Amino acid sequence: MPIDVRIENIADYVGQEVTIKGWLYNRTDKGRLQFLQVRDGTGIIQVVAFEKDVSPEVFADVVRLTRESSLIVTGVVRADKRAPGVPGGYELTLTGLEIVQIAEEYPIAPKEHGVDFLMQHRHLWIRSSRQWAILRIRATIIKAIRDWFDNNGFILMDTPILTPAACEGTTTLFETDYFGTPAYLSQSGQLYNEANIMAFGKVYCFGPTFRAEKSKTRRHIMEFWMVEPEMAYVDLNGCMEVGEQLVSYIVQQVLEKRGPELKLIERDTSKLEHIVPPFPRITYDQAVEMINELGREQGVSIEWGDDFGAPQETLLSEHFEKPVFVHHYPTAVKAFYMAQEPERPETCKSVDLLAPEGYGEIIGGGERSPDIEFLEEQIKRHNLPREAYEWYLDLRRYGSVPHSGFGLGVERTVAWICGLHHIRETIPFPRLLGRIYP
Ligand code: 4AD
Ligand code: MG
Repeated sequence: MPIDVRIENIADYVGQEVTIKGWLYNRTDKGRLQFLQVRDGTGIIQVVAFEKDVSPEVFADVVRLTRESSLIVTGVVRADKRAPGVPGGYELTLTGLEIVQIAEEYPIAPKEHGVDFLMQHRHLWIRSSRQWAILRIRATIIKAIRDWFDNNGFILMDTPILTPAACEGTTTLFETDYFGTPAYLSQSGQLYNEANIMAFGKVYCFGPTFRAEKSKTRRHIMEFWMVEPEMAYVDLNGCMEVGEQLVSYIVQQVLEKRGPELKLIERDTSKLEHIVPPFPRITYDQAVEMINELGREQGVSIEWGDDFGAPQETLLSEHFEKPVFVHHYPTAVKAFYMAQEPERPETCKSVDLLAPEGYGEIIGGGERSPDIEFLEEQIKRHNLPREAYEWYLDLRRYGSVPHSGFGLGVERTVAWICGLHHIRETIPFPRLLGRIYP
């Protein structure tokens, strides 16, 4: 009896007859010799069918297979270094075939399609090997994140998705009707995690977050996944240490677990190999100087007090081989909860981590203000409704401690690690500006 296997484990079955349940990715017709590229969700393998080696009925079925037909193939596993596929290096000599369904003419041809067409067919596009590889890497990134926190003393807290208050400013809120009063889709679980740490010490939340970003960029989507650690008795430096440990672990796990996928998408992995702690740290002041120096030729500049836009971030992050921490931004450009630097209150204990190769911000965070009067002023200054933050102010009344945290955006991290131009390929079904595709 042939053994049921999955392609990712094929190396363990050389010389044996196995069965694979999957789909036809492609077929190359050489007459009496047919090459089938079969995928099963875990990999892609070449199946070779010789007319002389199988029954006439089986061969007749082979030649009527259309792209994306579902099938169950049986064959003998051969090791061959040159064999294409993922993981590659193995081939199947066909002995049997069961057709589950002959697919209708498949709309995605192997040739290039425009992005709009591909997005409209996202439900099919995810079967393409490149999209498939990216999404497998995404899953590994998410597992690495969870493992790192679970193994380092953090406890998972699920924070709400429907919220009465904004965390990251009111301009990007998605409003919903909550039984007659407005509620917003969560922009961040941070404020709740500031409550959670006073009960659990070190926590993280990991879920979808929503921002109605009004401009079209290759780094923003409306619905993205963010992991947010929050830590009691940890300062800005401690926060950066956690960030560099986490990001390094993610990259090293992807290199270890997803070599074939990185190869398929042609990622230059030499750039990822040296992503290990420590990461460089510069102040916002230093960053401003660097931008104005490095950007002279490209016409990129910045004035002290302004927030970085994409051109400034790209410039800085192209300059470093590792991700770089930029800390102590102007208080005025950051969220209401950031702690002021006592010596220089116009700056705050905030930190962003910029990924290399021009990928820009992947982490945003910092130390939270312990000062209830300052927070009350900030709530006013940012035009936030005081009632919705009353519970948050309680956290500064009952056993307040110094604390810090940050948010790491999963999709930006996937874009960087995979070397992708646009964020839309980093999530199975991206929510983009102005239109919901499938
Ligand atoms: O810098 P942000 O806005 O920080 C916060 O939300 C904090 N409350 C997090 C915290 O301290 N707990 O967002 C954090 C990260 C960004 O660095 C970026 O990676 C990602 O979330 N991000 C987005 N990713 C994709 N599309 C968008 N529209 C994003 N907005 C933020
Ligand atoms: Mg930010």
